[in-house]
This record gives sequence, structure tokens and C-alpha cells, in this order.
Amino acid sequence: MRLWSSPVTVSMRIASNARRIARHARHHSALAQPQPRPAPPTSGKTDPYVLLAPHLEQLRTSLLTLLGSSHPSLNAIAQYYFLHPSKQLRPLLVLLFARATNGLGAEFPQVNWAADNARARQQELDAPLTRKDVLCDWNPSMPDHTASFESAFELRIPPPQPSPYTPPPPLLHQTHSPALTHTMLPTQLRLAQIVEMIHVASLLHDDVLDKSPLRRGAASAPAAFGNKLAVLGGDFLLGRASAALSRLGSNEVVELIASVIANLVEGEILQMKGNGGEAAPSSSSAGNDIDLKCLHSSPLSTPSDKWSIYLKKTYLKTASLMAKGARAAVVLGGCREGEVWKEVAYAYGRNLGIAFQLIDDTLDFSSSTAQLGKPGFADLRLGLATGPALYAAEEFPELEAMIGRRFGGDGDVETALTLISSSRGVERTRELARVHAEKAREVLAFLPRSEARDALEGLTEGVVRRQW
Ligand code: FPP
Ligand code: MG
Repeated sequence: MRLWSSPVTVSMRIASNARRIARHARHHSALAQPQPRPAPPTSGKTDPYVLLAPHLEQLRTSLLTLLGSSHPSLNAIAQYYFLHPSKQLRPLLVLLFARATNGLGAEFPQVNWAADNARARQQELDAPLTRKDVLCDWNPSMPDHTASFESAFELRIPPPQPSPYTPPPPLLHQTHSPALTHTMLPTQLRLAQIVEMIHVASLLHDDVLDKSPLRRGAASAPAAFGNKLAVLGGDFLLGRASAALSRLGSNEVVELIASVIANLVEGEILQMKGNGGEAAPSSSSAGNDIDLKCLHSSPLSTPSDKWSIYLKKTYLKTASLMAKGARAAVVLGGCREGEVWKEVAYAYGRNLGIAFQLIDDTLDFSSSTAQLGKPGFADLRLGLATGPALYAAEEFPELEAMIGRRFGGDGDVETALTLISSSRGVERTRELARVHAEKAREVLAFLPRSEARDALEGLTEGVVRRQW
């Protein structure tokens, strides 16, 4: 019996599997299907998806060009989740904040001037900052591959570069009277793509950690390609997102978005440490091959400890990307430190993100696998006590012990489900989500009236009313 396949056979198998899955994905592609989305706003409110439809469509199709590589299997996995319908909530927030604040920031005239003056700016954003033979970017949209390895690399003295353009003096010194414009800057469109790439990278890793068989109504990436390729695909997306980020020309935005990546990992680790419980028995999927003892989780005694860890994890895993993504959009629009606009974006994104995740945690109990496009009751099976379980434990204290052992005892998951569904846990979690959504709505009062502000307001309702 042959134990090993040759590397060539393995890579041919992966490539052919990838092509088959990519064909399947294209067949069921997001481009052909209606997009899932939070509930549309009640009448009279601007529908964010309608307002930004042309941008969202362009964003999705042009994003794929950022992901090309010379490896067909890497292409297939990197593009896989983008070919399935998604809510595109994170890009939507970036674009809505761009529309709701462009023109207000003190440096808007400069950033707008720079955008106008960068000839074919879209190309500028694709252009590497580093010489191509050094950067070695194996992207088909950048045809020059790295220099050959057949001889020693020759030193090349670079020709003098023209100094970067600066706005003309009148623009530098003019006093700016803040007024909304309808301009959307190319850097902001690119930022919307970057946040979606980071989100998808985190999902690729998450589906490995959670051993999830389904995502967006189809086989998850690890189920389709295997764990190793799913992890590598996520890493590849982060690499491409980082290169695109550096080309936006704002260190503040690089700092914000890089900190989101760290937050996502911190949130995931905090979730593994969970509710301060013991390491789950190996029979439970909560163990997930990870030795929880390595994480030095100290038992948390009080319910308020558990709530504070849960909400912190919720911010790190979900709300950070929305809050800092929205703030970064406003920074790119020329908002200076001390101006209120970026504080509004952050406060809105943070509250909306927490509301979104709280609702997600309720849907895990109340929606079917078909509605969710991923398995229901996943959190309990993973040993996680989310809002509904934490509230339910106030009514049924016997849940405390199950939470402590991460639902790892015989029959724990079934008993916990029965107790949670007879409690007010789901309802109270929805109420808490409404409180955060209302806070998000309130901070919008600092912005001038606009269609985009209206749409952001509609989103605070849609996120809470969504059923999947
Ligand atoms: C989905 O959560 C997962 C996330 C929101 C973030 C996961 C983050 C990591 C795995 C850290 C690594 C991050 C990067 C950027 C590589 P969920 O499992 O609660 O939701 P689901 O039901 O949709 O899977
Ligand atoms: Mg998951």
C-alpha cells in the first residue's frame, strides 16, 4: 500500500478539488443570488443597501483582483467566501460613514485634492510602494514577478524620485467651512474592501477552530479544502489586506486596522478561556484539541465577572472591526484629532457591533440551520455561554455548574437548551441589544442630516430586527 502521494499528485488533487469547488461556488455565486441582509428599515428611512448598491457591487467584483496568486488552490480558497452571499455589513459601515462625514473634517480639502490629483487614483492604490522585483508580489494584476534566483542579486541604485506632491498653498492655508459633499474617496472604497478581507480571514480561521461544517449555506472552507489550506488562505488574505492598507497613505489608519487584527485574536483567546470554567472533558467538542490549561484561566466566581468577560470578548471579536473600520473611514476623509466626527464613528460602530453580536447569539438558539446558513446551537456545543445562557442562569442556578464545565458533562447541552428556552434569556439578550442599538442611534445626532445618516439610523433597527 502506498502511504505517501507525491507532492505533485497532492497538489494536482488540491488544485482539481479547488477548481471543482470554485465552479460550484460560482454556480451558487453571490453575484447571482440575492444578498442576505439585516431587516430593511421601516418605511420612511433610507435603505443603506439601496443607497450604496452600485458601490457595494463594484467593491465585491473588484476585490477579487486583489486576491490573485500564481497558485490555483490558493486563489480558490482566498476567493471562496467572497463568492457566497454575505451581508457586507462592515464595508457598508465604512461607506456610510464616508458619505455621512466627507466634507466635514478640517483636512477634507487636502485629501480631496490629493485624490483628484492622483491620476487614475484606482491604479495608484494598486501600485506597489516598493520596486516589484523586491516586493515579489505574485499577483497577476501586477505582471512583473520577482527577479530570477539563478544569479546573485545585483544592487540597483534607484533613480531620484520626484518629491511627493503637496497641496498648493491656497489649499493649505484656506479656512475650511465644513459642509457635506457627495464625494466618496477611492481610499475609502479600498478601506471597505480591506475590512471585508480581514473579516473573511478571521472566518477562515474561525471555521477551523470551531470545526464548523457550514458557512453561508455551503460547505465551510475547512470542510471543502481542509484545515491547513483554510488557515493558509486566511493568512494570505491578511497579507494582501496589509499591503493594500499601506497604500492608503495614512499611518493612523494602518494603526487602527492593525489593532483590529490583534483584537480579533485577543477576542478569540478570551472566548477560549471562556467563562472561567475548567478545561472541558475530551469528549466535548469544546475541548477542540486545545489545552485550555495553557490559557491560565482562573475560575470566575461572580456572574458579573462572566458578563464583563463576555461583553469584552464581544467587543474584541465583533465590534472592534466595525468601530475602528468606521473611524478609519472618517480619518481618510480628513478628520483631525479633536474633531467629533471620528468619535461618532467609533461610538456608533462599537455599539452597533455589540448589538449585532448579541442578536447573533440569540439567533443561535432561535433560528434554523437553513436560515442561518451555519449550524444552530453551535455556541453551547462549543462550550460557550453567551447572553441567553448567562441570563438564564439567573433563573435556573443549576446552569452555573454547566457553564463552569463548559457544558461538557453528559446531557449538559440538552439540559441547558431546555432550561434556556424556558427562561427569558433570549428575550433579555435582545433587550440588551436594543439598548446598544439605541446608543448607536443617539450618537448620530452629532452628524448633519443626510441620506447616509438616515441609512445609519435605519441600520440600528435592521440589526436588531434581523432573523438571520
Ligand atoms: C466568528 O465568530 C468569528 C469571529 C468574529 C472572529 C474570529 C477570530 C479569529 C479566529 C482570530 C484570528 C483572526 C484573524 C484576523 C486571522 P463565531 O464563531 O461566534 O460566529 P460563527 O457562528 O459565524 O462562526
Ligand atoms: Mg464560528
